[in-house]
Amino acid sequence: MCGIVGIVGRTPVAPLIVDALKRLEYRGYDSAGVATIEKGRLDRRRAEGKLVNLERRIGEEPLDGLIGIGHTRWATHGVPNETNAHPHFSKDVAIVHNGIIENFAELRAGLLADGYEFTSQTDTEVVAHMVSREMDRGADPEQAAFRTLQQLEGAFALAIMFRGDDDLIIGARNGPPLAVGHGDGEMFLGSDAIALAPFTNAITYLEDGDWAVVRRNELKIHDMTGAEVQRKRQQSIGTSFLVDKGNYRHFMEKEIYEQPEVISHTLAHYLDFTTGAAKQIEMPFDFAKIDRLAISACGTAYLAGLVGKYWFERLARLPVDIDIASEFRYREMPLSKESAALFISQSGETADTLASLRYCKQEGLPIASIVNVRESTIARESNGVFPTLAGPEIGVASTKAFTCQLSVLASLAVKAAADRGKVTPQEQAGLIRQLSEAPKYANQVLKLSDQIEKLARELAHVKHMLYLGRDTNFPLAMEGALKLKEISYIHAEGYAAGELKHGPIALIDETMPVVVIAPHDRIFEKTVSNMQEVAARGGKIILITDRKGAEQATVQTLETIVVPDVPEIITPIVYALPVQMLAYYTAVFMGTDVDQPRNLAKSVTVE
Ligand code: M6R
Repeated sequence: MCGIVGIVGRTPVAPLIVDALKRLEYRGYDSAGVATIEKGRLDRRRAEGKLVNLERRIGEEPLDGLIGIGHTRWATHGVPNETNAHPHFSKDVAIVHNGIIENFAELRAGLLADGYEFTSQTDTEVVAHMVSREMDRGADPEQAAFRTLQQLEGAFALAIMFRGDDDLIIGARNGPPLAVGHGDGEMFLGSDAIALAPFTNAITYLEDGDWAVVRRNELKIHDMTGAEVQRKRQQSIGTSFLVDKGNYRHFMEKEIYEQPEVISHTLAHYLDFTTGAAKQIEMPFDFAKIDRLAISACGTAYLAGLVGKYWFERLARLPVDIDIASEFRYREMPLSKESAALFISQSGETADTLASLRYCKQEGLPIASIVNVRESTIARESNGVFPTLAGPEIGVASTKAFTCQLSVLASLAVKAAADRGKVTPQEQAGLIRQLSEAPKYANQVLKLSDQIEKLARELAHVKHMLYLGRDTNFPLAMEGALKLKEISYIHAEGYAAGELKHGPIALIDETMPVVVIAPHDRIFEKTVSNMQEVAARGGKIILITDRKGAEQATVQTLETIVVPDVPEIITPIVYALPVQMLAYYTAVFMGTDVDQPRNLAKSVTVE
């Protein structure tokens, strides 16, 4: 999940590399580093922690040179300190790496036996020494890189630089993405096109198994047999504009507040509010002809998919199998040839989701994906893409991408219902009218910020929290718990309210706040009973409901957050906001690093 950059440039590259790394910091921020070749000498600056530390370090001791590589790290092998920070060196070789070398222990043992000494605990240093060893045996840089790549197992993207050739970087991709940017007498490598956007929008994406010889005026790409291959050069739609926080304290806060607008854009992409019908979009399969839909995703995207299951099954009578992608990929599930597969991912690069996609592709299923990053690997490998129009999401905790994923899923469920003849045109128009109101209600919910912020001040002292919900509010309860734990580090669990008495009720005492997400719907009374069970054991209830629910909840609450009365289909979209705000303000009071919480990365490109 690290970010890598390489530049064979015309001007000093270190500031450009740092600039590109800023756009990749979402991939990891445990440490960062840059290496250049200057006057025939390999030099590097590395720093533990975020990129600002590296910038400070380079400010104190600048790096010159017209060629360089850079890295921002999410630690896998070895603690996040300066010694383990990339780039790693071995004699004349410098290397940055994203991913995991699975056979590194065995390779390391061989290198130790051959007398190579290790200064870090990383798997990356193994690769540096292997390239070096090939060169010691007489190989030129290209041969050395190729021979090394043939021995590596795992998922990785690499950039390798060689002292003695300041017109050469070798890039390699086996799993995690790698893009080559074409400049005018200069060439760039990056983990994504956005990183390279200020330099060029002419991009060539490497495919799995590709390795590239990148020089100022030449790009040659080879596959794993060593044969030269042609890859398309395309115009990137990535924007060079480094999104800023504006007047918000954090990206997460900004992204929460952007939701009315991005939900509206997303819905309008799929639904025609004038005619009251789903728009004609390019479909990789026909909803009327499939008998099942297999959805897989990770984290928040998985929870969006779980909400989608309720919608597809209820509205379109289409059975859905939903899986956490890391489980699905190894579950060897029998897949009916009449089914289709749908993958959900903000980044479009999540390793487990991508592996699940490839499994389904191999099984011959038509593949669709809901992605936010249009040029991502998942998007490129899908037969059809349903974009979320959330714009760049920078905060590690997903907010606007989630509600946009829900917006796409709701729109698709309505379309599926229409295509399968499960709703009349009038019913379809009614559902679409209801969906069109989601941005308005989301905006009204944002006005509850003072109340939620005040409540969060009290929660900042608790150790554990429980979230409960039924129906589509069950995935939302899990999403609330996920959001809270990832940014505030408060332990939280989300449960189906009906499951309370099957175990989690044992946790309830007067120190345990319980967030109950319960609009006044047909099962509201059932949830009221669960709240009574909590109250009877001294648990403190935070009820998120509507006006009617607040009136009819015959139970004492610590706080009742009253959101507007909304139609059932948009409940998960609208109720997601107070849940996100509660997590956000709690984390702010806790003083955590909201946008870049510890141990996490925005894009999880390793297993
Ligand atoms: O990029 P993806 O949507 O595939 O990412 C999936 C998860 O890693 C992601 O949703 C994660 O759970 C978020 N940090 C949650 O806020």
